[in-house]
Amino acid sequence: MDDDIRSEQTRATTLTLDDAMFTAVMEQAVETILVTDTEQVVRYVNLAFTHATGYRGDEVIGQPLVSFLGEARYSSLGLADKATPTVGEVWRGRIVSARKSGTTFEEDVTITPIRDVSGQTIAYVRVGRDVTREMSLQSKLFHLQKMEALGRLAGGVAHELNNRLTVVNTTISLLMARFSEDAEAVSDCRDIVDAVHRSKELTQQLLTFSRHEATRTRAVNLKELIGDAEKMYRRTIGEHILIILAIDPDIPCVIIDPGQFEQVLLNLVINARDAMSSGGMLEICAKEAMLTAEELMWDPSARPGRYVVISVKDTGCGMTPDVKERAFEPFFTTKESGRGTGLGLATVYGIVEQAGGYVFIDSEPGKGTTVRAYLQATDDLPSQIPTSLVPESARGNNEIILVVEDDPVVRRSTARMLKQSGYRVLQAGDGKEGLWILNDSGKDVRVVLSDVIMPTMSGGEFAKRVRQLHPHVRIVFMSGFTGDNMVEQGVLEKDQTYYFVQKPFNGEDLLRVIQRAVRRAAGQGSDPVPSGTL
Ligand SMILES: Nc1ncnc2c1ncn2[C@@H]1O[C@H](COP(=O)(O)OP(=O)(O)O)[C@@H](O)[C@H]1O
Ligand SMILES: [Mg+2]
Repeated sequence: MDDDIRSEQTRATTLTLDDAMFTAVMEQAVETILVTDTEQVVRYVNLAFTHATGYRGDEVIGQPLVSFLGEARYSSLGLADKATPTVGEVWRGRIVSARKSGTTFEEDVTITPIRDVSGQTIAYVRVGRDVTREMSLQSKLFHLQKMEALGRLAGGVAHELNNRLTVVNTTISLLMARFSEDAEAVSDCRDIVDAVHRSKELTQQLLTFSRHEATRTRAVNLKELIGDAEKMYRRTIGEHILIILAIDPDIPCVIIDPGQFEQVLLNLVINARDAMSSGGMLEICAKEAMLTAEELMWDPSARPGRYVVISVKDTGCGMTPDVKERAFEPFFTTKESGRGTGLGLATVYGIVEQAGGYVFIDSEPGKGTTVRAYLQATDDLPSQIPTSLVPESARGNNEIILVVEDDPVVRRSTARMLKQSGYRVLQAGDGKEGLWILNDSGKDVRVVLSDVIMPTMSGGEFAKRVRQLHPHVRIVFMSGFTGDNMVEQGVLEKDQTYYFVQKPFNGEDLLRVIQRAVRRAAGQGSDPVPSGTL
């Protein structure tokens, strides 16, 4: 008898313990657990469910499941068919669940019928696992892979095309020289040169996107750079948009090609302008920020650490999820033809990636857009010498430089750079105009800075005439091709001496070469070796 009581007691204790343990298991499970009866009325939810959805037990117990998880969503997923009591089978799937707050999250859900000893279904248990994070990691990884594949394609095509364009370019300049007396032929050639120029711009953008472009990265102070660019984008976007700059004065330098950074900023500003056709507010911020390994989990080659984040925020139309997903793809545009090329954000992506950074878009229709570019911070001091602060030794002393370049944008910016550095500048749009100016004021010109591939007269031909007529003038060529390449192609004469600066150049490169040429023109220093390029 005592034994019986004891064993009864033991069983009872064990049972109580099991109940408590059972409850603890349910309550502390990471998965959300919800039990309904066969009528789909909720009988139990665990703590994880409350955490995930915001619904407390007392708010949902006794309520039909559909009343708070949403009938439409349930039936649209086929759940009504598959997981109704009549089917009585295990249902598995991924669904979008609603929180009390109205927001949604993705869940992997299993709904299992619970049967009594006779096999009769008496309840359903719904176990869910929040997969939002997993999904987002997956889609980011997918995005990364897609961008890599597109980059390889774009880069490959651009590279091949560039080689062929180079041939067209050099051949055309030879033809132009040969037919220089035939105005009609020259004009036809000029059309070809124009088309080649435009194609080159395109391949250049594709190379930037595919991160194949040669860059000149250095420690850059963004505060100065953004300040310098400010005037330009204020002009670009017009009066109807309010611009706010919030640049933290203490931000560290970042490693990037300064010219490329300006391109990033300009593309983002133009997009913001286009998104705010009837006005709005544009905010450009720069501040130091950390990116943790956790935040970069989706990136197999993550580079957590110190960054400077530049954000360009607008109050414009925003993007739908589909547009946002594809916005970085080259040639993806929602703008009418002629207005958008679809290369703006692709260029931004390529540049930031190449600089070892990250770029993210936050955007919702009607709520505006923020693009954030993270660039690696460095403790190095800025190594760029702003053209306005060129050291005394590299500055000009009012010597006159003639800039001959058919692209007005390149011509003007080059002229500005030289002027800021203490030179006086004359400008010509082609070789003929250049000769004309030299005839007029030739004795004062020290150095001619000339493009090589130009309409009406090639740089080589132009140089030949300059040498005949104005032997004291030194010639500096600027070109996207290398000097040797052009000698090989016969555009420049062999055995002649050229100063040469490779495009795209920065202020320092240009000034260094110009200064050498100026000194030489004044009888100091020595010329480069024949057919050599500097
Ligand atoms: N700030 C923005 N606001 C709204 N949509 C934008 C914004 N920036 C980019 N987009 C969307 O992304 C697309 C691609 O942008 P982009 O690559 O710069 O090409 P483009 O400006 O030539 O269309 C745009 O056509 C537009 O739909
Ligand atoms: Mg754009």
